[in-house]
Amino acid sequence: MDFPMFHLDWLNDRFLIALIAILHVCINHGLAVGFIPFITRLEQQGVMYSDNNKITDPEWDTMVYRMMKVGFLITTSLGAMTGVGIWISVSVVSPSSIASLIRVFYWAWFTEWLVFVTEVILILIYFLTWKNSNKSLKAKLRHIKFGWFLSFFSWVTMAIIVAILGFMMDPGNWNTDHSLINGFVNPIYLPQLIFRTPTAMLVAGVFGYVLSILFTGKDTAIRIRAVKQSSRWILFWTPLSLGGAVFYYRAIPQAMTDNMSTAVGTLQFAEYYSILKYVIVAAISTIYIVAALGIFKPGKVRLFMVLLPCIMAFVFLAIFERVREFIRKPYVIGGYMYSNLLRVEDYPLYKRDGILKYAVYTSTAEVTESNKIEAGRNVFILTCSRCHTTQGINSIVFAFERMYGIGKPFDEVSVAAFIKGMHNGRTFMPEFPGNKKELEALASYIKNLQQTGDVIEGAQNEGVVVNPNQSVTAVMPLIESKQSVLADSLMNISLFSNK
Ligand code: HEC
Repeated sequence: MDFPMFHLDWLNDRFLIALIAILHVCINHGLAVGFIPFITRLEQQGVMYSDNNKITDPEWDTMVYRMMKVGFLITTSLGAMTGVGIWISVSVVSPSSIASLIRVFYWAWFTEWLVFVTEVILILIYFLTWKNSNKSLKAKLRHIKFGWFLSFFSWVTMAIIVAILGFMMDPGNWNTDHSLINGFVNPIYLPQLIFRTPTAMLVAGVFGYVLSILFTGKDTAIRIRAVKQSSRWILFWTPLSLGGAVFYYRAIPQAMTDNMSTAVGTLQFAEYYSILKYVIVAAISTIYIVAALGIFKPGKVRLFMVLLPCIMAFVFLAIFERVREFIRKPYVIGGYMYSNLLRVEDYPLYKRDGILKYAVYTSTAEVTESNKIEAGRNVFILTCSRCHTTQGINSIVFAFERMYGIGKPFDEVSVAAFIKGMHNGRTFMPEFPGNKKELEALASYIKNLQQTGDVIEGAQNEGVVVNPNQSVTAVMPLIESKQSVLADSLMNISLFSNK
């Protein structure tokens, strides 16, 4: 909380990260990690199937090259942009958690950066030298080798990041011994990697399947061959992906699987969660049927038959990401930091003294009768605004109106009572961290929000105000009047909250 709070009230802060991150994962898994080995294998087959006196089958090679062009253009534009977008969005929305993650995973991220730069260089080499490499068999084989290198490096970037994602869900031993190794080998790391690897291959295969139909003519020999190759790839990776999913699911702690229904459908549609497993079975079966058709009756496959499974594969990957992001709540880093960016170990202090006292950026250092609404607003920004908006997506007014009746004036006492116990019934929310006065101020503010429709514009528009008790102007007179004990204690507080 020692950063000014960026806030997007119409969209919801978490949603901003989710949109960018989910798009990024779809591109990373479907068009890089899984797609590069898929393409390299096809390229290799061009060489294997070519006539003895030729380097590769030119028609086949052109098709594979065009498929790679799609992957190349999307990964180097949208893929790279969303990668940077994740950094920017988490830095503004969730600065304390990303700062902690950087401290823990500093060397992992440093290595990741080196690997990533290598990956970018290799992808440039791989794509841009494709045409030239067709001039001699030696060059072509070297080019294919580059493809396998690139595949390996793309996988390694994922393998490093997955450690951090697993850590956020369950840091394991790290919570008692803060070392990089403990953080890296968290209990969810391997299961998630074992699930993601074949899943990336599968999604890429389905995407490649669509491209192979787009880039070949109906009833041509090359289409039949391409369809068969994609189908084999899909049939190979699907069971591994399913097995990985089961392994991963079993590694997830119960408290998280309990959040699953809200994660998939939000509270409003949570009951549809039970349908999800049938949808998954239907989707996997469709993918399987289309792949089997591609092997036994490749001439019968049409674009629309593959397009639907392809869309489903990407949608499921997106749902999986959303669920992963959601179920670790109320934590952003399991057992260490709540999703409201407050550390678990600081909670007792906040509950005793109030959260405003320790906040660096608040216009009110404590709640008084005259500043109740303003203080409540500050409390809302500090404790609810990472997940709730005032009037936009997952708005706090709507959250309460859904319980108490749309348009019905809120009763401050019941609002406060709900907030006090909200972490029990709704386990995805952290416990309210403030003291009693702050709880009452928050309830007044929420009632006021319902009446006035006030909107929080975020530090990016409203600017920042430093806690009046921690500002230089508050501390200087104390030092001058030699009240050094008091001044020191105030300075300590601000040092503490800046830590
Ligand atoms: C970690 C994120 C997070 C934080 C922090 C958070 N909430 Fe929530 N809250 C949620 C989510 C997610 C929902 C469910 C939204 C849905 O699925 O419709 C929710 C739902 C609610 C509901 C509706 C409950 C119901 O049963 O319908 C209320 C009321 C609420 N929150 C109040 C608050 C208040 C007040 C705060 C701050 C003190 C707060 N929340 C902090 C994530 C959070």
